[in-house]
Amino acid sequence: MKSLSNRNLCLLLSLLILVAIPASAIENGLGKTPPMGWNSWNKFGCNVSEKLIREVADAVVTSGMKEAGYKYVVIDDCWQVKRAADGTIVADPERFPSGIKALGDYVHSKGLLFGIYSDAGWKTCAGRPGSHGYEFQDARTYASWGVDYLKYDWCNAERQDSIESYTLMSKALQATGRPILFSLCEWGSTKPWLWAKDVGNIWRSTGDIVNCWDCKEKWGGLGVVHILDLLDGTESYAGPGHFNDPDMLEVGNGKLTPDENRAHFAMWAILAAPLIAGNDLRSMDAETKAVLTDKEVLAIDQDSLGKQGRRVAKDGEKEVWARELQGGNRAVALLNRATTPQSITVKWEDLGYPAHLSAQLRDLWQHKDLGAKSGSFTATVAPHAVVLVTVKP
Ligand code: GLA
Repeated sequence: MKSLSNRNLCLLLSLLILVAIPASAIENGLGKTPPMGWNSWNKFGCNVSEKLIREVADAVVTSGMKEAGYKYVVIDDCWQVKRAADGTIVADPERFPSGIKALGDYVHSKGLLFGIYSDAGWKTCAGRPGSHGYEFQDARTYASWGVDYLKYDWCNAERQDSIESYTLMSKALQATGRPILFSLCEWGSTKPWLWAKDVGNIWRSTGDIVNCWDCKEKWGGLGVVHILDLLDGTESYAGPGHFNDPDMLEVGNGKLTPDENRAHFAMWAILAAPLIAGNDLRSMDAETKAVLTDKEVLAIDQDSLGKQGRRVAKDGEKEVWARELQGGNRAVALLNRATTPQSITVKWEDLGYPAHLSAQLRDLWQHKDLGAKSGSFTATVAPHAVVLVTVKP
């Protein structure tokens, strides 16, 4: 009989382990509130290097992002070039001459956490080696490098079963004994909100975000409001430790207007979304910084109840989205998708409150108390903008 090749043996062992370990909710204690950090993809694509990641880690600290709660610094695709003879994944020696372990150590020395990217298929989306057949070996390598976060993509995996593939890597990560936040990225193609709670901490619910308000790209990329539409209806599946992921932020990447940047960020907070900045933190302007580090908006995203908001009213391009907060309060976004200013009203009944209830309102972007209101609240909202308020009975 022909002996099994190393790769086939690895695959067989992985499958046996998968069958032997019963499925259970991921118990890594991570992501009780949506993770916050930075990822290289939106701004830099494949142009990643240890120099960039170190500089960004420095900037997370000096810009005030760390103090605001951003923790993870994540290298996306293209850090890896091949496998060594023993199967170990190898980082690009030109772009990462000191190696990934040293880079992780540097990120940790800044009091931050370190994330990396791989793919459940044979190759990543950019054609680098994927983890298929090497799940346990890769997980051990990541743990030995001090990785705290893995984003796991779904390119070149057409013949694989998504639940099996992601469960396998989930088990592999857990087997390392190192808490590693597991970020699934299969773009919502097999409805991960229905099954991924037991597998990872966050799961992408849609295709890739593109840097625009409402465009749609032929390859599947979606502007901010199209992603928003797809998230409506997924709210019941999110909670502490397991969140829908509407993709990384485009705030500060130069295409959205100041109002659109604020609306994008506010809506991600209403969605209890992971807040993974995607801009160049080394050269961020004051306005971008003010959006990304706004304490009151961040407090909505990070509310400990972990409840994802939903659209509670829609009248053409005027929408009301609301999220329940701890203590029975609500965060409400009056979203104007039109290109002209609109008067938008939220009714207490749409928030699950009795109409006569008196509640204190606060405008979060204005940092201003609006006093007590009963029954409803109306504001004029600029084009492609959000008025974000908290409602406290
Ligand atoms: C996919 C993912 C993106 C990014 C790229 C990298 O498109 O959805 O977020 O990771 O791959 O190639």
